Amino acid sequence: MSGSVGRTPQIDGERLMRRLDELAQIGAIEGTHGNCRLALTDEDRAGRDLVCTWMADLGLDITIDGLGNVVACTEAGRVADSVMMGSHIDTVATGGRYDGNLGVLAGLEVIESVLSGGGMPTRPLSVGYFTDEEGSRFAPDMLGSLAYVGGIALEEALEITDRDGIAVGDELDRIGYRGSAPVPGAVPYAFMELHIEQGPVLEFHETQIGVVEGVQGISWTEVTLRGQSNHAGTTPMPLRRDAGLAACRIANEVRELAHNIGDSQVGTVGAISLVPNLVNVIAGLATMTVDLRNTSEAMLQHAESRLDEIVSRNAETEHLDVSMRRTARFEPVEFHPAVIDLVETCAAEAGLTHRRMPSGAGHDAQMLARVCPTAMIFVPSFDGVSHNPAEYTAPHDIEAGANLLADVVWRLANGEIDSEIGEIGATT
Ligand code: GLV
Ligand code: MN
Ligand code: MN
Repeated sequence: MSGSVGRTPQIDGERLMRRLDELAQIGAIEGTHGNCRLALTDEDRAGRDLVCTWMADLGLDITIDGLGNVVACTEAGRVADSVMMGSHIDTVATGGRYDGNLGVLAGLEVIESVLSGGGMPTRPLSVGYFTDEEGSRFAPDMLGSLAYVGGIALEEALEITDRDGIAVGDELDRIGYRGSAPVPGAVPYAFMELHIEQGPVLEFHETQIGVVEGVQGISWTEVTLRGQSNHAGTTPMPLRRDAGLAACRIANEVRELAHNIGDSQVGTVGAISLVPNLVNVIAGLATMTVDLRNTSEAMLQHAESRLDEIVSRNAETEHLDVSMRRTARFEPVEFHPAVIDLVETCAAEAGLTHRRMPSGAGHDAQMLARVCPTAMIFVPSFDGVSHNPAEYTAPHDIEAGANLLADVVWRLANGEIDSEIGEIGATT
């Protein structure tokens, strides 16, 4: 690596914590530390407005694209030359205040620190937040960043509906975030995302920093089972077509499937809805979700075919009609080796304990990795808890992660690993 230009800026940890706290007041879940800011709701709009205000206060050039992805750059029209940071500010319905928000506000903090430090790096800096990363309201997850990199057509993304049949495009219009910048968006020089780990590994190993090497593959399936709704007292057991029973059996077998495949395989039935959902009526309709993830694409495909078999067998046993719909499917992603090395070097030079690890959760960075050199930094999650209002990361860990982000971004923006990046190119 060549020597860096100027000095790496130090971020202001208190300012970052204040912004995290202020954003968390929007969609706060009463009596908890957590948030409900589902994508494209009024709360999301208020969160977006607040972050845009902060971006504008720094004099950044803000662009909003046709899917509501927001990117702010230190120089107008130069996102394509910039080192981009970012993540998302939508949350799951039972979310914490750090998931996503940290990556956006730390990016903003890095930019503010650079701007107030006097010297600018060679390349511009940008920070973005992407629409509907969580996918809780509109599947798939990472929808905004997927479209940003050209992985789904804008028209298709705008037509996706939530459980109530409300379309992405209509909600964007309603909250005033259907912008005019093109989708796909400008490809930055490189992308970096700081995120909480959302799992127990760093805490268990008493390690401050996760050097993220990639993201495991994700497969979401919605299963619909149709039987017959009937009287709970009068229908003899052998004559039932009970969709609720089959859903429970499938959920049980998804747990066994993950256990039997082992290694990194996980399997989750996170939602089951029964109709009519009454104490004395056999459920005639069950809709359930299955989330399968594995770091190996081959093993993930194996898990998917096991799921197909489990669903058809249980539907047949209970004489049900069944349909399955894949709502998200992403292959495992490997980040750029030179950027991973840079994160590791910077962590070591800062005296931070660190370890290489995969990400169990999905992230916008996995989409940006399709088009530009990308990596991620993790900081520890207390008790490994996330997607839960109890999600917590200590301020000193947040500050260490944000300072590491600043160092990595500063060096990228000064061209320190241009030659390594040039040799390898984007790892798509
Ligand atoms: C996104 O948060 C996911 O990993 O489900
Ligand atoms: Mn996230
Ligand atoms: Mn999340």
